[in-house]
This record gives sequence, C-alpha cells and structure tokens, in this order.
Amino acid sequence: ARTQMKIAVIGTGYVGLVSGTCFAEWGNNVVCMDKNAQKIAGLRQGRMPIYEPGLDDLVKRNYAAGRLDFTCDLAEAVKGAAIVFIAVGTPTRAGHEDADLSFVYMAARELASLIADDTVVVVKSTVPVGTGDVVQRIIGSVRKADTFSIASNPEFLREGVAVSDFLAPDRVVIGVEDERAGKRLIELYESMVTLQNTPVIITMRRTAELIKYAANAFLATKITFINELADLCEQVGSNVSDLALGMGLDKRIGASFLTAGPGYGGSCFPKDTLALLRTAEDYGVTLGIVEETVAANDARKRRMALKVAEAFGGDIDGLTIAVLGLTFKPDTDDMRDAPSVPLIEALQRMGGRIRAYDPVGIENAAKVLDGVDFFEDPYECAWNADAAVIVTEWETIKKIDLVQLKHHLRQPVLIDLRNALDADAAEELGFHISAVGRPASTDGSLQEIVKRRDRRQAVKTETVELVS
Ligand code: UDX
Repeated sequence: ARTQMKIAVIGTGYVGLVSGTCFAEWGNNVVCMDKNAQKIAGLRQGRMPIYEPGLDDLVKRNYAAGRLDFTCDLAEAVKGAAIVFIAVGTPTRAGHEDADLSFVYMAARELASLIADDTVVVVKSTVPVGTGDVVQRIIGSVRKADTFSIASNPEFLREGVAVSDFLAPDRVVIGVEDERAGKRLIELYESMVTLQNTPVIITMRRTAELIKYAANAFLATKITFINELADLCEQVGSNVSDLALGMGLDKRIGASFLTAGPGYGGSCFPKDTLALLRTAEDYGVTLGIVEETVAANDARKRRMALKVAEAFGGDIDGLTIAVLGLTFKPDTDDMRDAPSVPLIEALQRMGGRIRAYDPVGIENAAKVLDGVDFFEDPYECAWNADAAVIVTEWETIKKIDLVQLKHHLRQPVLIDLRNALDADAAEELGFHISAVGRPASTDGSLQEIVKRRDRRQAVKTETVELVS
C-alpha cells in the first residue's frame, strides 16, 4: 500500500468537504479548515453544512477513525501537510459577471508564511486561466521560489452524487509546472489508477484550469441544444425524448446531458459560462456558441412562465398555481440559479398565487422567494390549485399518484417541465398536460388523442426493438 499523506483542505463547501472526506477515506490524514466557526463546530458533531446523500456517514466514519479533522485554525491545518488544497468559493462577482477570486487570493496570502518547505499547494476551486500564476506570485513574494509548488486539480463532481463522482470520476486532471507537484499528485491519485483504471491527464497548469471551464460550457451547450430542439418538437409534433435517444446512441454524441427541461441552473454552469466568456473577452477571443448558450438559457427560464399561462389561454390572473419542486435539480437543497425562481416571480407578476412543494429545499427557497406558501407534501400543495407545475424531477414527484393529484387539484391541468410523469397516463385520466418537447394535449376528440397516442406507442416499440 502507498504511504499515507498529511493533507490540508481549505474551505468546506461542496468541493472541499467532499474531497477532504474522500482523501481520508483512502487512508490519508486530512484536516479540513474553514473560517466559519459554526460550520466547523457542526462538522465535529457530525452535522453537515450541506445536503448531500452519503456524505454524513463518510464524514462520521473517517472522523471517528481519526483520519479526518476540522479546524478554524489555518496554521494547525497546514502543519506538516504535504499537500494543501485550496477549495474556497469563487462566486460570480456582483455586477461584474466574472469570478470573485478574493477568497483564493486571501488563502494564498495566509498560506505563504505558514506552509513548510516542499509543500505542494493545489488549487481545486474552479478558477480562471492564469489564477495559478497569481497564486504562485503571491506565495513567491514571501518564500523562495524553489521551496513550494503550485498545481491545478479541478473537480468535476456533481451535487447530489458528489461522493460517487469523486470516488469514481471519468478522469483526473492535473496541471503542474514542476516535477515535485506532478509526483506528489500522482502519488495521491495512484490508487485510482491501479484499482479502477481512472485516466489521469497531466498537463500545463493553464490547460488544467481551462479544461474545467471548457467541459462545463460544453455540457451547458449540450443541454441548451436539446432544449431548443424540444421547442421545435413541440411545433412539429415530435417527441424530444425519443429524439434524444436516437441522437445519443451515436457514440460520438453520447446519451447524457440530453434531457430537455426548464433550462440549466445550479452553482456551476451559470457562473462558469459567464466567467469563461469574460476570460475570452479579456484575451480578445469570441466564444459565440457559449454566448448564445448563456442568452438562450436565460431567455428559456423566463419563457417557462408563458408555457404555464398558455394552458389557460394566456391569462392566469387570480389563479392558484402549485409548483412541485424548487431546487435546481433533485437530491440537493441548493437553490442557486434554480429555474423555479424566475418562473415563480413571473407567474406572480401575471397575477398568479403560488403554492410550492419541495422535499428539502424549502428553507433555502424561502430566502429567495416572497409571497409563496410552502408545503412539505405535494398533494397538500396541489389542494385547490388550478394547475400543477413540475420544475424539479424529485423521486417523490416522479412517483406521484395521478389520481390523487387530480383529486386535489381544482382543475386537471399539469405542466410538466421535466417530463417527469407519464403523460399518456395523465391524459387518459383527463388531465390537460403540457410537457417539454412533445405537443400539448388539445381539447380534441378522444379519437384524435387515441390516434396521437398510437403514434407515440409505435415510436416507442420501434426504439425498444432497435436498442435490444
Ligand atoms: C455540474 C457539472 O455536471 C459538474 O461536472 C461540475 O463539477 C459542476 O457543475 P451540478 O451543477 O451539480 O454539476 O449539476 P448537473 O447534474 O450537471 O446539472 C446542472 C443543471 O443542468 C441542472 O439544472 C440540471 O437540471 C440541468 N440538466 C442537466 C438538464 O436540464 N438536462 C440534462 O440533461 C442534464
């Protein structure tokens, strides 16, 4: 077995806490540091600052085993550490649309006098190209250049599946400018390579920094592409799920991130696409496709309210709308850039009254939404509402009992922005359903509906035969 390392992780957000805990899980000695004393005290008592499935067991186990510790004291954290990870936040700078690097730079300034000789400092936060160079200069102004190394090791984990993404990633990206940093990081990730054949890419620091932004911008573009095609499907009478299946089976395209919905949100795609555009602008380069992705996604989020209004001939004044699902995606309590927020605000401006359900997001949602009645039960939320709108595909929502839902609603109107429910079953029960990337049900004769359904059935059967 390889030697265990002493590792310090600065910042206990999603990336810092998950990375630190998983490094400990591999047998390393890890100290996670955060300036927020409340967070640290909570973690020491086994209270997680974020909702992330599987994380609390892992934290508690490694803490109990003495491999993982938490502190507010940076000096204590980095004492004897062979690697120090900077995993602090890089939010969008208010009014500037670029990344706010003040937390990264502050960490670098404080580290400069505290690290021992031969320490490798790794930037794990998502940072614009060239940030590693600045960190190098900051620390280099206090220490001799050959006594430390600065590396980049971006993290690709997704919220909701963060632990499994971290432990079994598609690849590890390491950006280094010297041998010490390269060797140290390869040693850290060695078990991944030998045990599960994870590809490790070792490249220049600037390239590693850019890979993270490029990957996120590409995925955001892929989602936006299928969302625009979904609009076309609605107009020409096609089904976007089958379309995505047909495209995605082409190995050059790939099936994932082709699910149409209300537009992407979250803590990464919106922020990282903007930061990438700013970098490009600074260097005089046009990234037209990314620009278009950002604009199309923003417009789409705003347009979703119209889709709800359309179900009522454009007028929802005085109607009650039940919004099911608030977080930007399932299995997280994160409300950052969630499509539910502009949707609800627009519905309110149109005169709609909002009742909303989310299994874990209500606390955070209440901080960003005004005038909304929140419910912890989806049926209670739907009670006496004129329509139910599905915005996040939580399991509890996918499993909803349509008969019960119809019974609770005042009108059987369903707007499914995630295609989470069985549209055919809903139609059969008499729902007026408007989903994404399929024609909305008309008030046409039953025969017409049956005909349409037969057509869909035929598509499904054919697809299944082709796949199997
Ligand atoms: C993303 C990246 O996937 C991850 O690699 C990076 O480290 C951080 O940003 P995350 O924001 O946690 O992760 O969630 P993700 O699952 O990627 O979803 C982002 C948004 O895109 C969500 O709003 C989601 O609903 C939406 N999405 C995703 C779609 O609308 N369709 C899809 O097919 C996939």
